[in-house]
Amino acid sequence: MSGGESKLLPRHVGIIMDGNGRWAKQRGLPRTEGHKAGVAVFERICEYAADLGVPALTFYAFSTENWVRSAEEVAGIMELFRCQLQKAHRRAAENEAKRWRIRYIGDLEPGGPVPADIIDLLRDMERKAMDKDRTVVNIAVNYGGRQEILRAARRLAVLAQSNAIAPAELCEQDLEDGLYTAGQPPLDLIIRPSGEQRLSNFMLWQSAYAELWFSDVLWPDFTEQHFDAALAAFVRRGRRFGATGEDEKG
Ligand code: FPP
Repeated sequence: MSGGESKLLPRHVGIIMDGNGRWAKQRGLPRTEGHKAGVAVFERICEYAADLGVPALTFYAFSTENWVRSAEEVAGIMELFRCQLQKAHRRAAENEAKRWRIRYIGDLEPGGPVPADIIDLLRDMERKAMDKDRTVVNIAVNYGGRQEILRAARRLAVLAQSNAIAPAELCEQDLEDGLYTAGQPPLDLIIRPSGEQRLSNFMLWQSAYAELWFSDVLWPDFTEQHFDAALAAFVRRGRRFGATGEDEKG
């Protein structure tokens, strides 16, 4: 698929990077090698999607539930984040030339389970890439969809308690303003490779009308052609947003 077709493009694509462990196992490698291969694919797909002009992407990198994995695997994934961030710091000029900028979403409060040095690095990288014109790439780390909604609800409760907002007047936008993705378009398309067909607590609010695309390919084997196939399926589907087929919104 080439650029210049932006009216057919989803405004926001969510990607559940799954299958790294199985990919590594098939090759007799440690699971961390699968995640390493997954990072390389992540970079390729960011570049490809940004070239096409997709406005926003969100990659599910580490969920609030992933902490129950072996200490070795968790440490390996954290080390991958650290390496990626350190590499990005060293290559500031290269980042400037990229057509995408990275944001991190999830519970990244100091004092939480994500190592403090990683939080410092990623917040610093975000500050250096505030250019709003580029494709936004959200990386979800220590992220859970229910937790995100709960956090947004708490914010509203605090506002209501201080009489800044009347409960009866609350609207969807008020809740959305408290999500990590506030100000970004809702998900139009979710891609999940590796044969699993579920959301796994990924962006539950933002996916209300998302088209879902599943494939058996394992994430480290995912290519630009798979991304194209997902985009083509998205274009073929009639999106009705609850209306009848004769009254389509998009
Ligand atoms: C799911 O595959 C993958 C993860 C839980 C981790 C994904 C993390 C990365 C690719 C690192 C991301 C880093 C950056 C910088 C984007 P799985 O391990 O559940 O695979 P399996 O289902 O085959 O076991």
